[in-house]
Amino acid sequence: MYTDFLIVAENAARTAGNILLKHLGQPLDVEFKGDVDLVTKVDRLSEEAIVAIIRDRYPDHQILAEEGTTQEGHSKYRWIIDPLDGTTNFAHSFPCFAVSIGLEAAGKMVAGVVYDPVRNECFTAIDGSGAYLNGNPISVSSVDNLDRALLATGFPYDRREHPDKYIALFRKFMMKAQEIRRPGSASIDLCYLASGRIDGFWECKLKPWDVAAAVVIVREASGKLSDFNGNEYSIYGNETLASNGRIHDEMVKVANSP
Ligand code: IPD
Ligand code: CA
Ligand code: CA
Repeated sequence: MYTDFLIVAENAARTAGNILLKHLGQPLDVEFKGDVDLVTKVDRLSEEAIVAIIRDRYPDHQILAEEGTTQEGHSKYRWIIDPLDGTTNFAHSFPCFAVSIGLEAAGKMVAGVVYDPVRNECFTAIDGSGAYLNGNPISVSSVDNLDRALLATGFPYDRREHPDKYIALFRKFMMKAQEIRRPGSASIDLCYLASGRIDGFWECKLKPWDVAAAVVIVREASGKLSDFNGNEYSIYGNETLASNGRIHDEMVKVANSP
């Protein structure tokens, strides 16, 4: 049953991805939602295309999408959508962004698609059925030592209000990990973890749409997610710590070190 949902989600993600590619490098009307948090007409066009495809097929399903589309109701299914994850990159023609579509069923994330149109990489997963990149199975890396680990992170949009807190965390990981990247698209970061391209990831204050699809992909690729204390993960929480599982305890320890 989830397979049908995933086919629809992948179709929507690829349709939206083509919209992003068509506008990449073109002049944009950039609006600022906050100090550094921006939105473009392309975010909205992408969201409209995704929502149209999902509504057409599943008119009673609930929807939560970053640029404002919400649909509530009695259905146990809710689509959680980021129509353009990595907007700042997109606005600068920095080729690292994705479309992210996750499906929640009665409060649990059960399916996800993250599509990177620049590389034509489509990451997919259904609860209990493994994780895939363009149809090929993927799994997390086998690195078992933080000292040999490549990590990724991002800085939240309130970074100018709490610079010391975020820099302190970055410094702690910088002193222990092999290297750190800051690519600018949390959904891609998490899919790179799922496919073994990085070994761990942390970020504060991600939104449900940044992570909804990718958490299914990470779990199905045998990755682990928690908050910074190692407690159960929620896409509605303030802390995301994800890893290949093998370096998870070490990452929790570093996050909580003085
Ligand atoms: C952002 C990206 C970025 C992360 C931010 C997110 P957006 O999403 O995922 O990597 O650091 O916290 O908000 O705004 O480009 O959809
Ligand atoms: Ca996002
Ligand atoms: Ca977005």
